[in-house]
Formats: sequence, structure tokens, C-alpha cells
Amino acid sequence: LKLKSKHLLGLKDISPEEITYILDTAKNMKARILKCDKKSADLKGQTVITLFYENSTRTRLSFELAGKYLGADVANISASSSSVTKGETLIDTARTIDRMATNVVVIRHNMSGAPHLISRNIKSAVINAGDGMNEHPTQALLDMLTMIEKKGSLKGLRVAIIGDICHSRVARSNMWGLTKMGALVSVAGPPTLIPPYVESFGVKQAGSVKEAITGADVVMGLRIQLERQKSGMFPSLREYSSVFGINQENLKLADKDVFVMHPGPVNRGVEMTSDVIDGENSLIDEQVTSGVAVRMALLHIMTKG
Ligand code: CP
Repeated sequence: LKLKSKHLLGLKDISPEEITYILDTAKNMKARILKCDKKSADLKGQTVITLFYENSTRTRLSFELAGKYLGADVANISASSSSVTKGETLIDTARTIDRMATNVVVIRHNMSGAPHLISRNIKSAVINAGDGMNEHPTQALLDMLTMIEKKGSLKGLRVAIIGDICHSRVARSNMWGLTKMGALVSVAGPPTLIPPYVESFGVKQAGSVKEAITGADVVMGLRIQLERQKSGMFPSLREYSSVFGINQENLKLADKDVFVMHPGPVNRGVEMTSDVIDGENSLIDEQVTSGVAVRMALLHIMTKG
């Protein structure tokens, strides 16, 4: 099975079979990483460019390492050090990169739809590494890989997503992906940060964090975007953590074998307490390793088919 599109722009328009294909490939890649057998020449001669208009630690580095582990040539550009600062448009920047014999462009941009725009203007395959409030598909894929490894299957898995659903591209990609794969997703957070149409994603809007967590197999926290506080979306960080934070107390309501996840970066003591982040149920470190595997899988599939 090949992917229907040569680009990966989101999980909204991708089938469960395609998701399964990517995750199965990623499982093999993760086995290679864990066996310290990660270096190969599979992508020799392929060129991957990461074009990041927003800061990143995990996504950018894991794409870079994924490409290098597979033998590709990888180069990074950030907006601040590129000719974007001289007024060059996104399309002109992308076309310039494309003319240097590149095969894959990985882009993160603060505007929703930026990857879609460049995919229509260049020959290289485009991977969305996070576009505005829209999607972060590789994050949701690595989250799903981690859940499958720990729980066996996504079908019927009860997943609670807690926090700023409205502005979160991670939440959006996970809602599209998890529901397609048969998971039962509930969401909770400050009412100002839950979109009114959220149930159209096929998820349940819980009345409270406790309700969402009750019986959950996986509890996923989301990063609070601190700039939202200034815009009056919630009163204070202290109130946020006491009403919407994930802690040992409210986790007692979850399934006894619950796992806790967070895409990172975490605001310690806000979205979740430090003992939860570092606790035995936390998969946050595991998610990082899955991230390299998923990105290796995608680069392999998108260049080799
Ligand atoms: N989860 C995530 O996208 O992290 P970075 O912003 O560090 O890439």
C-alpha cells in the first residue's frame, strides 16, 4: 500500500488503512532504533529540508535524525536566519528550496494551511510539521504508535484529551486520527478553550476534567499556550492547574493501568504535576522515541513508496 497523496498534510483526509500502514512501518523503525541498528543507506541520494517558521525541539530534531539515520542528506532552515527576514514570500522560499534537488520539505508554520499552499507550488513531497491551529499529523501518529505499543490496539481505547482543545493542532490531529482508528475520545478543558463544534470530530465533550478522566485508558495533557492567559481565556495559571491540571488525585478515577501522555514541551505544575510527568505511568519519554520512528517511516514511505 502506498499513500494516496505524495504529501502528508494532515490526518483529516487520510484513511485508517494508510494510518495502519504508516504505524506498521514505524513499528519496524522503532525496533531498529531500540536494537541500535538505526543507521542504514536506505535513503542514500535523497535530500530532506526542514523549514521551520516556529521554534521546535522534538519535531525538528527528530526529522533531522530520522533522515540521517536512513542515510539521507538533511539541511535545516529557520525563518529567522533565512531570506524571509528580507521580505521573501513563503512560496518563493519553498520554490528556491525545491530547485536545489530536494525530495522532501518538512514545514512548520504559524499559519494554518501553509504546508497545503507550498504543496501546490513545488515538486518535492511536503510533510506538515505543525501548521497554526490546524494539524500536527506526525505528533498524532507518534502518539498512536505509543498507545498501540502499550495497549495493543486503538479500537475501543478510552482516551481523554485535556486542555486547550481550541488552539491545539495536536488535539485536532489526534481527534481525526484516533476516532478513525476506533478509539473512544473524550475532551475537557476550560469552556473558553473548547470549540463549540468539537463533537463534530466524533469525540465526546465531557462536563469536567474528572468526567473525562473517569475510566480512561490514556490521559493526554496539552500544552497551555501562555499567551492565552493574557487574552483572558483563563484567569490564572494557579486556577488552571487546580481545576484543569492532571494530578495523582484525579488520575485515581482513570483505569488502574492508565497511561499519561503529553506532546511536550510541558509547563511543569500547570498542565500536570511533576510527579505525574515523571511517574511510572508517564509515556512522555517514550513518545519522543516514537517520534523518531514515525518520522523515519514517513521519510521512507514518501521517498521509496
Ligand atoms: N510536540 C512538539 O511539536 O514539540 P516541539 O515544538 O518541540 O517540536
